[in-house]
Amino acid sequence: MDYIRNFSIIAHIDHGKSTLADRLIQFTGVSDERTFKDQMLDNMDIERERGITIKSQAITLPYKARDGRTYSLNLIDTPGHVDFSYEVSRALASCEGVLLLIDAAQGVQAQTVANLYLAMEHDLEIIPVINKIDLPSADVERVIEQIDDELGLDSEGHLKCSAKAGTGIEEILEAIVHRIPPPKGNPEAPLAALIFDAHYDAFRGTIIHCRIMDGTVKSGDTIRFMSNSATYRVEETGHFLLQREKRQALCAGEVGYIIAGVKTVSDVRTGDTITLDENPCSHPLPGFREVKPVVFASIYPIASDDYEDLKTALEKYQLNDASFIYTKDSSAALGQGFRCGFLGLLHLEVVQERLEREYDQSIILSVPSVRYRFTLKDGSVFYVDNPAHYPGSSSIELSEEPYIRATLMLPERYLGAVMKLCMEKRGTNSTLNYPSPGRVELIYELPLAEVIYDFYDRFKSVTQGYGSFDYEVIDYREGQLVLLDILVNGERVDALSQIVHRDRARARGLQACERLREEIPRQMFKIAIQGAIGGEIISRTTISAFRKDVIAKCYGGDISRKRKLLEKQKKGKKRMKMIGQVSIPQSAFLSVLKSD
Ligand code: GTP
Repeated sequence: MDYIRNFSIIAHIDHGKSTLADRLIQFTGVSDERTFKDQMLDNMDIERERGITIKSQAITLPYKARDGRTYSLNLIDTPGHVDFSYEVSRALASCEGVLLLIDAAQGVQAQTVANLYLAMEHDLEIIPVINKIDLPSADVERVIEQIDDELGLDSEGHLKCSAKAGTGIEEILEAIVHRIPPPKGNPEAPLAALIFDAHYDAFRGTIIHCRIMDGTVKSGDTIRFMSNSATYRVEETGHFLLQREKRQALCAGEVGYIIAGVKTVSDVRTGDTITLDENPCSHPLPGFREVKPVVFASIYPIASDDYEDLKTALEKYQLNDASFIYTKDSSAALGQGFRCGFLGLLHLEVVQERLEREYDQSIILSVPSVRYRFTLKDGSVFYVDNPAHYPGSSSIELSEEPYIRATLMLPERYLGAVMKLCMEKRGTNSTLNYPSPGRVELIYELPLAEVIYDFYDRFKSVTQGYGSFDYEVIDYREGQLVLLDILVNGERVDALSQIVHRDRARARGLQACERLREEIPRQMFKIAIQGAIGGEIISRTTISAFRKDVIAKCYGGDISRKRKLLEKQKKGKKRMKMIGQVSIPQSAFLSVLKSD
């Protein structure tokens, strides 16, 4: 155990976590320059493009230190987004130390602070690392001051690097060896292994990622998940190098994988404790919690005969993402589909993109919703995350909606604009801190529904990209909630219905109508778009009819242009849905969510 170090890299989004991880991998020689590019730590396309690491993964780096000894450095990757903070906390619970990475040009941001607090909760050794020192706009002195003043850490111990240029990497590895303590734990004690992730392998089933706290696990053992007492027989244990590498056993202090015939990733709960069935440990490891989705939306196939296909795709997708849940749903307008739960809006976007790209599905997503709580006049209480189940206003005694506590960090010059935005979003109980001159930390309590409705975009735009944001769900509070329906040519499009705050209903109805007017292409007849609460119409717009045939324009022109136009229309149609006689593009459903 003296030669093991378990650590993680925590950072604000885009501060260079993946780039640094790749450098560490490269430096320790697990991978050479040639294979390096295709085998980087976060290997999903979307992650690469968005620059967001979504799933935690682990890798063991063999490092020959300057003291001549070879250490096993277990790097546990953490997702870098607010939607995944529970996953981050479980990954951190598997470590003894972290590299706290800070962009030399951007300095400390909200996620830096949020992640630092998580690391402190686990009593981890924290090594501040200033990255991107190669940038002309790098201001290392300012970051050092922030480490002292804003983070309350000893800036003496900071390291500097450029993950991109590959400078300062060896110093980081040496610091991991010398400053992060080796793991504790007793290999003879009953097994206690912390699950921090799992992924699905088409050949082997679920691969459990875990940190052994105490005891030993080897193939042939019968293990038990302490949260639900399910038992499995261990087929294989091992370490993660670039590929999996089989080992006879995993012992206290180690990080590795267990394969035990577990069918799906959803049978494995992040944060759960694995023990031996025969000789169990007395308590589960602390910190386990069921992950609960907070944002809900329905997914429908664009063509209804693709339903079975979509069902298979969702089954497959879920094998690898246990935090994604779904059940059957149906809509009058869109036919059979699925009601899905997500950890947040970003998670929703990721699922949508992956279904489209990797599983080749053409889908329509309904308006996202949070989970509301209604107490009826007969005293019964229930939670509604689907506007289709809105109980009917006359039977409701009390309506409540989920609230979050948002921490916003921004340069002081944007304070006015951000406060205005938060007030507009029904924010309350604000507090203001000045962690350092020129920067403010603003804390607001806000309805979650307002945040999933275009808050990120607006916040980024009013702070010109300099603001950062973190949140946690706190409680339910009373709010007057009504059901807003959207009618297209008199037909209610149930997938566009939303539960909204009464004060918002009118504006939201108008916006939805306007948006639809922009997104729905003109057709051969006039189309009326209306917003309604109960029977009452609160907003209305119309789309006037076509004057000319699209093709007519091309007559006498180039024939290939005409063909192109037709093809384009055909492609466009693939993403349309007929509501009565009107075809509505997928983009219209999404745009109803956005404001300006
Ligand atoms: P998330 O996964 O979104 O949290 O991002 P990340 O923290 O993993 O950041 P990533 O490694 O993807 O880097 C973000 C961007 O910063 C990329 O465009 C990198 O090329 C760039 N970058 C990373 N390290 C350096 C550095 O040392 N210098 C410069 N100039 N750019 C860097």
